[in-house]
Order: sequence, then C-alpha cells, then structure tokens
Amino acid sequence: MSEAKRLAGEKAIEFVEDGMIVGVGTGSTVAYFIDALAGIKDRIKGAVSSSEQSTARLKQHGIEVLDLNHTGTLSLYVDGADECDPHKRLIKGGGAALTREKIIAEASKQFVCIVDPSKQVPVLGRFPLPVEVIPMARSLVAREILALTGGQPVWRDGVTTDNGNVVLDIHNLSITDPMAMEREINQIPGVVSVGLFARRPADIVIIGGEPPIVLR
Ligand code: A5P
Repeated sequence: MSEAKRLAGEKAIEFVEDGMIVGVGTGSTVAYFIDALAGIKDRIKGAVSSSEQSTARLKQHGIEVLDLNHTGTLSLYVDGADECDPHKRLIKGGGAALTREKIIAEASKQFVCIVDPSKQVPVLGRFPLPVEVIPMARSLVAREILALTGGQPVWRDGVTTDNGNVVLDIHNLSITDPMAMEREINQIPGVVSVGLFARRPADIVIIGGEPPIVLR
C-alpha cells in the first residue's frame, strides 16, 4: 500500500498554490506529501502541523512551521484517514493526532484527504474509532461509550497524545449516523475529541493509484 500512499501524497501537491500556508496532517501517507512539499518549499510561506511527528519531518526539510494562532484561516489542509465513506466522512486518529487534526480541518477552507484504496468503506466503523480522553476520565468515558454505542472501548495502553491525554479505541461499531455519534460522544465529560470527521468531512478525497482518483 505504500506505493498507493505515495501516489496520493504526491497528487495532493497539485492543490498547493504559491504563497500558501499549508495545513499538514499526520501519518505515513502525509509523510509522502511532506516529502513532495519539500520540492516546492520556496513557493510556500510555511506549514501548520498537526503533530510533533509531522513538525519534525517538516523541519528536517527546512519548511517553516507556524502557529495556527498567528496564521488565521488556512486555504488548504492535507491529511490522511483511517477510513473514508462515500460522503467523504472519515475516521481518523490511528496515529493519535486526532484533536490537532480536527482543529486544523476546522480552520481550513479546503480539506484534501489522501488515502490508499483500502481506506474506502461503505459504512464507517470497521476501523476502531479513536477517542482522545483526559486521563482521569478514562474509565468513566469507557463506561459511557459502551452504554451509548454498544461498542467495545479499548484503552490504547502506553500511548500519550501530544496533548498529554489517553486514547480509547471503540471496536465493533457500525456507524450509520456519523453526525449523531460524533455529537453524542463529544458531549461526554472528559472527551477531548472523537476521531469522526462528519460535521467537517473532507472536501476532496484523493485515492492513490495509477492514476490517482480525485473525488470532488
Ligand atoms: C493520525 O492520527 C491519523 O488520523 C492518520 O491520518 C491516519 O491514521 C492515516 O494514517 P496513514 O496515512 O499512516 O495510514
């Protein structure tokens, strides 16, 4: 799948315009995008990064990483996904960067999602749904999620997010109403964010392949 990821990441460069500050997601597909972005780094003003991992890669390439508080609204955000449905709604957070990813997606006019074909699903939920949680609320949130969704929350043991929180992955879901589930999980005290991108889905999905497919 890494070849498909590379093709998707490189295709997304076509959406980068001169003088842009580019929102950059996290993950192995985005790594290919960052590497391609390095080739045109003199044409952009810089990047806003969704994780320490992406920040390190951007800086290695000499791309300036800017603070979202100083940039205002971004024209473009490029990020991967763990699942993508036909309405461009996503599950994200396999790399535990979901909260910052959600913030940058919200702050961006256009969200281009780059995936390999294995990420396409008719209904979200085969991939365990990540939820970032304040550490002291871990058990409470797990119980409430079980009662609310019927899914099985599993603590991603040993993982601390860039924000100092923990992640619960909810298994055995079939998410027929992603908007409602996103809203309901977000309302549980202790939840920082849920890796459902339904309220703010992708605008464009690029599926890596020869040639890449661009869904608009
Ligand atoms: C990071 O938290 C995730 O949202 C990633 O975007 C997602 O896991 C996709 O990762 P890959 O590009 O590595 O498959």
